[in-house]
Amino acid sequence: MSTKKTNSARRSENEGGAATGSGGGVSRRRLIGGAGAAGAAGLVLGAAGGAGGYAATRDDAPTALTTLGSAEEMFHGKHQAGITSPLQARGHLIAFDLAPGAGRKEAAALMRRWSAVAERLMAGRPSGDGAGHDTGVALDAGPSSLTVTFGFGRTFFDRTDLVARRPAGLDPLPAFSSDRLDAKRSNGDLWVQIGSDDALVAFHALRAVQKEAGAAARVRWQMNGFNRTPGATARPMTARNLMGQVDGTGNPKPEDSDFEQRIFVQAGGPEEHAWLQGGSYAVVRRIRMLLDDWEKLTVERQEHVIGRRKADGAPLSGGTETTKMDLDKAGPDGKLLIPDNAHARISTPEKNGGAAMLRRPFSYHDGIADDGTPDAGLLFICWQADPFRGFVPVQRKLDRGDALSPFVRHEASGLFAVPGGMAPGEYVGQRLLES
Ligand code: HEM
Repeated sequence: MSTKKTNSARRSENEGGAATGSGGGVSRRRLIGGAGAAGAAGLVLGAAGGAGGYAATRDDAPTALTTLGSAEEMFHGKHQAGITSPLQARGHLIAFDLAPGAGRKEAAALMRRWSAVAERLMAGRPSGDGAGHDTGVALDAGPSSLTVTFGFGRTFFDRTDLVARRPAGLDPLPAFSSDRLDAKRSNGDLWVQIGSDDALVAFHALRAVQKEAGAAARVRWQMNGFNRTPGATARPMTARNLMGQVDGTGNPKPEDSDFEQRIFVQAGGPEEHAWLQGGSYAVVRRIRMLLDDWEKLTVERQEHVIGRRKADGAPLSGGTETTKMDLDKAGPDGKLLIPDNAHARISTPEKNGGAAMLRRPFSYHDGIADDGTPDAGLLFICWQADPFRGFVPVQRKLDRGDALSPFVRHEASGLFAVPGGMAPGEYVGQRLLES
């Protein structure tokens, strides 16, 4: 948590939704020159004076940024930003492979450069060293809740001669019967997740990360996503996905007593994996939605596929969005109100020995695919302390009998170990690379 959180109107409280469902999330966000409690509109002008951010680095820049522009996520902290941060409107996922000949030394130098640029950009400062190396794409904007999150894939440890320190959580994910994975768009030595509430700020960060890779690493794949823009709804709401469903309700909440243990790697593991303490694992799946088929269903059938009402996300067993699902409740005809194969029933921790994950996705739309249908769906990202106790058992079960399966196709997959947060002066992965 930042000690500098002065004008602390947090958007997670104002906008809700976020990574953790309608209850809001843990946010390390602050507003620079902010407007106090800005309300759900999100675009209220900040109080004049004291405005920081990139805009204020220019002589002719106005001193007041909007609340959206001035919201800032902290680079330093216990965990990296971008995990419990509220969902942002724009996202880029990008995987790199170390270049031929690059090893641990080059990887350490790269992580040092990436950390430095991420810290500057998240604070709303230009990416360069002041000598004109910035692209200028975000010149007028504040940090706009930018987060840049870094992870290491399984192959990173081979390339850097650190196999002895590779945690078991990076064992390859099992194959699932419904997988249709494209290897070229899967995995990678390094992974970067960028999120911002402004598309130009996000692109600016993307270019800076790509440029800083220099000769050390090459882009393996990139995916671009989006979510609802803060302020678009009249009140704080959980986001919807491209099937129109309220998505994120059942997420673990920061206020849950076991939230930290479920999502972040705890102390006490093997010494050789201590570098990952406070970190997490991200499972990334590009899940295509077969929207032409899905949209032919009546709303009632769509609701039976998920087990929740489309309009407000309430469970079919009754109540409101936040009412606990009653998995045993039957209707007058004796049939379960939340069907046996409903997605929310099959995936819930209650039916999976407590297996839980924090889902923090972006939607994507890459036009029309060769088969003439929308190339659109979910960049599904889930966070957990151990993917083999979170994602894997749940996906195994979904693979066997989820009513949603005929309407989705997993097309790419990645698994990354994401180190914990940095202390000032430290770079991401330093504890691994300099041990
Ligand atoms: C495009 C693919 C998917 C769509 C459209 C989708 C959609 C949904 C929706 C609408 C809900 C109910 C609201 C909520 O609690 O968020 C839900 C719940 C959930 N989904 Fe998915 N989902 C997808 C893929 C997955 C995958 C791959 C997993 C994990 C392997 C997963 C795990 C979960 C979990 C754990 C819940 C919460 C269940 C609970 O405890 O209430 N979902 N999903």
